Amino acid sequence: MLCLGIESSCDETGLALVRDGVCVDSVLASQADVHALFGGVVPELASREHYRFVGALYDALMQKNGLTLDDVDVIAVTRGPGLLGALLVGVAFAKGLALGGGKPLAGVNHLHAHLLAAGLEQPIEYPALGLLVSGGHTHIYRVDDPVSLTQLGRTLDDAAGEACDKFAKMLGLPYPGGMLLDMLNQRGAADPHLFPRPYTYVDSLDFSFSGLKTAASQWLDRHPDIRKEGHAIRDKGIEHASEALCNGCASYLLALADTLRIKLNLALDRYAAVPFRSLLAAGGVAANSRVRAMMRDLAEQRGLKLVLPSPKLCTDNGVMIAHMGWLMANAGRFHSQGFSSIPRGQLIPDDFYQKGYAD
Ligand code: KG4
Ligand code: ZN
Repeated sequence: MLCLGIESSCDETGLALVRDGVCVDSVLASQADVHALFGGVVPELASREHYRFVGALYDALMQKNGLTLDDVDVIAVTRGPGLLGALLVGVAFAKGLALGGGKPLAGVNHLHAHLLAAGLEQPIEYPALGLLVSGGHTHIYRVDDPVSLTQLGRTLDDAAGEACDKFAKMLGLPYPGGMLLDMLNQRGAADPHLFPRPYTYVDSLDFSFSGLKTAASQWLDRHPDIRKEGHAIRDKGIEHASEALCNGCASYLLALADTLRIKLNLALDRYAAVPFRSLLAAGGVAANSRVRAMMRDLAEQRGLKLVLPSPKLCTDNGVMIAHMGWLMANAGRFHSQGFSSIPRGQLIPDDFYQKGYAD
């Protein structure tokens, strides 16, 4: 079964082909440069960029692989959560293709696609405990099978990626700063007492990262010289970063990874009756070196199989959407032309229709 996947929920336009769970090929156009000028994603610009790229990317992907729409069995597209205008571009494009080619459609939950993306690289053993850490979300999930995902906890304010990007912004680093923070962290030594593990004193699987940001801002108020460094690094490169800055980044990311570890441990204790077999991580922040090290330790301590996607599968891409579409089609879940795009903050309805793929 060949599934075409289309991703346009934020600032990456991604298209990919997945055949029977294996990636055939993918294309991606990032808009990061456009939004970097404004220090964050500008929704209207994002929609326009998706509109500019989606058709050309589709043509390039199909031509490169000598395929036409006739060869595609299922069309999968991100329906949410995301920026509404951006989602609409991908969804309208997918619906047009499906209508023109008489193909079945699958409206994909972007978060579920992130979580299961690692399944393209290694088998996921169910049930799994999943951590989704991206620019917009920090969620803990119980994953019973590829289409049964239950959210157990979520962030009450900033997402883990947002907490990274905002700290990077305070330092004067370019947007999105998560990856640069990680690079600086790798040159430093973490002080475990410098920053708090926010919201871990409550018996809840929810997160709140605002306390970590505030602590970082107060630390920078006490060290104005470090705050100024980011701009200089933009020009000179990170090899010119001071030890104090690198140590601060390492301490910040350690606090973030520790907070995630505490909540994951709590989830495993609270759901001790569930025979979890693997630990999953997904989303842009799952590319972070401290988060990956923490996940490795936790999996070992709790006797779970660790399933980490390779860094290129962590950030937004079309491959994970095509993969999720293939999983949905395997489970006989499809959407009619009337399905809607769902912006961030709203619940994605279970409005699929059930049909055996071969029916
Ligand atoms: O999953 P993603 O590509 O997009 C969303 O759906 O949000 O995640 C993007 C987020 C950004 O906040 C970015 O700064 C962060 O992931 N990120 C990182 C790293 N690589 C990307 N944060 C920390 N360390 C990294 N290595
Ligand atoms: Zn994402």
